[in-house]
Amino acid sequence: MRYRLGRAIGRLLALPVGEVPALDLLEELRTSWGNEAFVANLPFLAAVAKHAVAAEGPILECGSGLTTIVLGALAGRRGVPVHSLEHVPEWFAHVFTKLRRYRVPGIALRLTRLISYGPFEWYELPKGDWPNEFQLVVCDGPPNATTLGGRYGLLPLEGPHLPAGAIVLLDDATCSSEILVRRRWHLERRMREEIHQAPDRAYAVLTLGGQ
Ligand SMILES: C[S@@+](CC[C@H](N)C(=O)[O-])C[C@H]1O[C@@H](n2cnc3c(N)ncnc32)[C@H](O)[C@@H]1O
Repeated sequence: MRYRLGRAIGRLLALPVGEVPALDLLEELRTSWGNEAFVANLPFLAAVAKHAVAAEGPILECGSGLTTIVLGALAGRRGVPVHSLEHVPEWFAHVFTKLRRYRVPGIALRLTRLISYGPFEWYELPKGDWPNEFQLVVCDGPPNATTLGGRYGLLPLEGPHLPAGAIVLLDDATCSSEILVRRRWHLERRMREEIHQAPDRAYAVLTLGGQ
C-alpha cells in the first residue's frame, strides 16, 4: 500500500505543469490512500484536480487528506499557495507526515480548533500569513455530525476574502446538512451553482458573485 501510494504520488508530481491527471491515476491515488470512509470520491477528486490546475491565486482547503496532496502537486508546485485547515491532531499528523515523506510542495497545513462563533462553530482562523483573497475553496469539512452548522461558517467568516468569481467546491452537496448550508449561503451571497451528481454522492461548484 505504502509503495503504491508513493508511486502514484510520484506520477502526479511528474506530470507536466498544467496537465490534469487522468482518472486512472486519481483512482490509483484513492485506493492506495485508503481511508475509504472519508476520502473524496473520484468525481470530487477529479474536480479538485481540474480546478487546482487552473487556479492562479491562493487556495483554501477545509478538511485535509488526499485532496491536500492533489492541491500541492497541481497548484502548490506552481507557486500557488495552499492553506489547509485541519482540526483533528492525529489526522493532521498523518497528513503532515505524508506531505513530508513524498515531498509535496506548497502546502501550509494548519492544525486549528473548532470554536464557537455564537450561532455556529467553525475553524479558529490562524493569525498571520493569511491571504487577503482566496480564488478557490475546497470545502470538505468540518464534519456536520460534531460541528454546529457544519460547513456553513465558511461564508460568514471567509466570505470577505472570497472575491467575485471565486469558486467553492462543496462535497456531499445533496446531504441534508449541505442542502441547508447551501440554502443559507444563497440567502447571504449571490452565487451560481452547478450540482454534479454521482451514484454515491454529489458535489457542488459554487461561483461567487460580488459581495
Ligand atoms: C471528509 S474528511 C476530508 C477528506 C479529504 N478531503 C480527502 O479527500 O481525503 C473531513 C475531516 O474528517 C476528518 N478525518 C478524515 N479522516 C479521518 C480518520 N481516518 N479518522 C478520523 N477523522 C478523520 C478530518 O478531520 C478531516 O478534516
